[in-house]
Amino acid sequence: MGGAAGRAGGLRKVVAGESRISSIDGERGVLAYAGIDIHALAEQSGFEEVVFLLHEGRLPTRLELLGLRAELAGARSVPAPVVALLRGLPGGTHPMTALRTAVSALGAFDPDAGDDSGPARRRQARRLVAQMATLVALVDRLRRREEPVEPEPALSHAANFLYMLEGARPLPTADRAMDVAFVLHADHEFNASTFAARVAASTLADMHGAITAAIATLKGPLHGGANEAVMQALETVGSPERAEGFVREAMAAKRKIMGFGHAVYRTEDPRATHLRRLAKRLGEEGGDGRWYAISERIEQVVRAEKGLYPNVDFYSASAYHVLGIPTDLFTPVFAASRVAGWTAHVLEQLGNNKLIRPESDYVGPRDVPYVPLDARS
Ligand code: COA
Repeated sequence: MGGAAGRAGGLRKVVAGESRISSIDGERGVLAYAGIDIHALAEQSGFEEVVFLLHEGRLPTRLELLGLRAELAGARSVPAPVVALLRGLPGGTHPMTALRTAVSALGAFDPDAGDDSGPARRRQARRLVAQMATLVALVDRLRRREEPVEPEPALSHAANFLYMLEGARPLPTADRAMDVAFVLHADHEFNASTFAARVAASTLADMHGAITAAIATLKGPLHGGANEAVMQALETVGSPERAEGFVREAMAAKRKIMGFGHAVYRTEDPRATHLRRLAKRLGEEGGDGRWYAISERIEQVVRAEKGLYPNVDFYSASAYHVLGIPTDLFTPVFAASRVAGWTAHVLEQLGNNKLIRPESDYVGPRDVPYVPLDARS
């Protein structure tokens, strides 16, 4: 990695390693998981199938899919001490902080803790995928002072997540919308949180440690935290008529409009295409089209004025809101899906490991004499 790349900032356009998990063509707006276009996956597959695809590099047979569904359904519970730990966190703890803490603690209780064999790592990867959605629902119920809802093995991963969150079976439209959102967020090449997971894994740290690093990295508003910021903006705007003024004001103040722009896509983020559709349909069917209408108007103005396209976070905000998901749970929901990709990347990294250790371009002073403490002014 040359100095020029470093000076360009943020490692943009630097190829940091090989991967067979997902690919992005930022100019054409293409995302594919193991070579399969995201549009086909969003329209035809489900989250469990995508987990298999990301972990194994190919689609499962019917039997393999049944096997994975059963394994995930059987691994959804989390140990009682982890539930107790979550109960003990102070009120007002951000759900991402709670999730990060819980995943770190899960590592201590994992039946394969300390076993770094390939099969053990794969079991841990699948277990973490199964448990992350449970943790997100738990974090929310416990802070609402409601008792946890036991997972329902007959439900799909997405439907079970909504069930554990609400305590009621989701409507089929909500169930499918959640499933598609999980499919769309499951992997995205060397994004910041995935890269953090790979860096941690490359030191031969354990699976839970690598996923904890990923959650910590996803929390920031320039990454996964943007969907939460988008919803706050939609609430501030309040009505489609006020959208234009909001955008103009933000632009005049040189404030970024959350949910727009992307480090890699120079055209529409293909995930936004599906999330826009989902947000619209959920709004229409749920009888509250206001959030979609505000989002649509903001998009029109930002496109016209700045030429920026919405990213994955923009329409996921209005879609999740209509699904009844609290705003500060949006990023944890992202994590509940992205754990599929994170774990796939950790497995891939460990399959052919080399410590990730770049160099910095030192731009500070050189040959500076040491001044003893007493002689400093
Ligand atoms: N709102 C307003 N202007 C934006 C913008 C946004 N959301 N995103 C980028 N821009 C502008 C920048 O101000 C910059 O303008 P300039 O050249 O006049 O200074 C130009 O577009 C390039 O932006 P830059 O931040 O350098 O692009 P990047 O590739 O480094 O950043 C993001 C990508 C995602 C960090 C950036 O678009 C952003 O902060 N978006 C908002 C947060 C967000 O939605 N994150 C989720 C990403 S999936």
